[in-house]
Amino acid sequence: MIIALAADHGGYELKNAVKEHLKERKIKVVDLGTNSADSVDYPEYGKACAEAVASGKADLGIVCCGTGIGISIAANKVKGVRCGLCTSVEMATLTKQHNNANMIALGGRTTTPELAMEIVDAWLDTEFEGGRHQRRVDMLDAM
Ligand code: RB5
Repeated sequence: MIIALAADHGGYELKNAVKEHLKERKIKVVDLGTNSADSVDYPEYGKACAEAVASGKADLGIVCCGTGIGISIAANKVKGVRCGLCTSVEMATLTKQHNNANMIALGGRTTTPELAMEIVDAWLDTEFEGGRHQRRVDMLDAM
């Protein structure tokens, strides 16, 4: 499995922490930047990560900005991407079970690294429930 990562300046430290965590889990990562505190535009990074997932270059994607909000909005503009903004383990679990989220967004200024790793693990280790949720996911993908 390959996971694409991207962040703006508000999320790059959390993105780097997620990268190390994924490597510890022996998961291959593609880091699409950014890699410094210099101000950049989150739409560019959300789009780049989402396009990596939509094109199949990566299986899943994780994006980080200050709140996770802007970069999740950007990612969700790319067809085929279902990016869930997660601020709790419950949201991470549900966004896989119900939305089959192929990306999650995290907030570098709103979520501690410790909680972020729990969120990442919950999302990765939870299965999509299918059933009635499949029809709704299909509706999302048809938009
Ligand atoms: C950047 O200052 C900040 O606006 C961005 O990281 C993010 O929080 C936007 O939603």
